[in-house]
Amino acid sequence: MGRIIVTGAAGFIGSHTTDRLLAEGHAVLGVDNFRTGHRRNLAAALKQPLFSLVEADVSAEGVMDAQVKDFKPDGIIHLAALVSVQESIQDPQLNQLYNVTATERVVAAAVAHGVKRIVFASSAAIYGDTRDLPIAEDSAKKPISPYGDAKLASEVLLLRQTGPGLTVRCHRYFNVFGPRQDPASPYSGVISIFDRRYREGKPVTIYGNGGQTRDFISVHDVVRANVIAATAPRIASGAANICTGKATSLLDIVGIYGARYPAVPPPTFAAARPGDIVHSLGRPERAKAELNFIAQVPVQEGLAELIRVG
Ligand code: UD1
Repeated sequence: MGRIIVTGAAGFIGSHTTDRLLAEGHAVLGVDNFRTGHRRNLAAALKQPLFSLVEADVSAEGVMDAQVKDFKPDGIIHLAALVSVQESIQDPQLNQLYNVTATERVVAAAVAHGVKRIVFASSAAIYGDTRDLPIAEDSAKKPISPYGDAKLASEVLLLRQTGPGLTVRCHRYFNVFGPRQDPASPYSGVISIFDRRYREGKPVTIYGNGGQTRDFISVHDVVRANVIAATAPRIASGAANICTGKATSLLDIVGIYGARYPAVPPPTFAAARPGDIVHSLGRPERAKAELNFIAQVPVQEGLAELIRVG
């Protein structure tokens, strides 16, 4: 069994990834500054003897170097980030710190101490507003936010370091959803916001006509991709979409929630958000070819789970 450092372990994707690694018998060191992560997400992990947690900032000088030197991981799953596109626009320097400098620290520590593998949370945001759907990995990369710029810059500086000793996998996540996703901000993932509103008995707001579609992928599939990339023998470095290849509209989602919560008033409609893209859909073939990864959770099933467990 391996030894893995998970940065951003207290976050939405990080905590599920940690749980899964522990269930498979790996030793995990979580690193999180708890800026947007929550200790409650690690309630189960903290009971496991194979789990340890360090409260520290990945972007701070010396932090990753010391942790990697001490823990001697086989791999690092780097998920710590400034996760809000909107916040990256409001505070580009903070975005630079958490989404670029932090990656530099991870790379430097990995190279200095001979870590064999890095898995990085990239994003479909690196493609920007492409109309060339479904999006393949070699599509034009024209990010439209500092967040997208930073994810792309991180990919470049990570993939530059690959060689016989270090395998890097960049996962371009599409719209991830599932339990523990934080609905706190208006710019949180739409499903987390809708889930909270229906639970509270309040109508959701749809920006636009609801016909916009996304490639929604369950966090459990994303976690499987992370664990494969971190632990599978003999994989090559590279970047791949982590998506389902299936489009779901907001009206489809509201239909599922409306049937489950018939007493909640119907959605209200508001003007489309400026800069919002109408359709986003990824091509999933490269992850299949390079990682043998195929998303397995249909959106209906993922939503049923979310409605059940919250
Ligand atoms: C997502 C990512 C973003 C990335 C982009 C790349 C999230 C949270 N954001 O943005 O990081 O840059 O993909 O393609 O995953 N909506 C409503 N009502 C609401 C909230 C949202 O109608 O209360 C609509 C939005 O206007 C949008 C859709 O739902 O049309 C999805 O929004 P959101 O979940 O924020 O994700 P993206 O905009 O796709």
